[in-house]
Amino acid sequence: MKKHYTTIKLACSVAFAGLLMAGFTSCGKKDANSPGVEFMPDMYRSPSLEYYSIHTIGTDTIYNAKKPVKGTVARGYVPYAYANTTEGYEQAGANLHNPLAVANKAQWEAEGEVLYGKFCVHCHGATGGGDGKVGGKLPGPPPAYNGTLKNLPEGKIFHSITYGKGSMGSHASQLTQEERWKLVYFVQKLQGPKEVAADSTAKGNAKPAEAKK
Ligand code: HEC
Repeated sequence: MKKHYTTIKLACSVAFAGLLMAGFTSCGKKDANSPGVEFMPDMYRSPSLEYYSIHTIGTDTIYNAKKPVKGTVARGYVPYAYANTTEGYEQAGANLHNPLAVANKAQWEAEGEVLYGKFCVHCHGATGGGDGKVGGKLPGPPPAYNGTLKNLPEGKIFHSITYGKGSMGSHASQLTQEERWKLVYFVQKLQGPKEVAADSTAKGNAKPAEAKK
């Protein structure tokens, strides 16, 4: 009985060794890139399906991915009340204010600076001079924050980041509203203190004086 087992064991080992050798010799021979025998080709080469397409396999209709129902609102979506028009821009400038508490200004500026380094610096430059590596090469380079844009109100800054302006694209899909407001704080830091408007009373006095002439 014991002898039988030994013979069977030996036979098995020889067969196994043979299989192993066959296995090794079969790869890498003629074509190094050949994957060898494919036992279940469908598992190696699954058919790629287009997104949002409908397929029929036999009598089955397969919906690859269904489009969201009309009117679906993305999770976390916050509506923005101002239209992408000149009027919307002016209204945002007049009425839109930063909802992030000014008490934490330093924190928002610091977080805004990080975002600025990722999304804006290549066009606007480190100090907002419009001299970023890309910005300097644009046909209409960005104006300087502490120059032409010195007195740009926060609502307009937010509006332009949201919709884009000129050769600057919209950043609404990359940045949440909160992130855009953090950036507003940082842009304001680069704008520096607002220029004090010329004294209106002086102007008011000048006119009648001129009229007298
Ligand atoms: C592709 C380059 C580019 C990038 C990236 C870019 N900008 Fe601009 N940006 C411009 C240009 C060009 C203008 C001038 C647009 C004009 O007035 O025609 C501009 C204008 C602005 C203005 C003035 C808008 C106004 O109302 O006059 C602000 C503020 C601004 N950018 C902030 C940002 C911030 C913040 C970021 C990053 C989130 C950013 N930009 C990213 C190119 C860019």
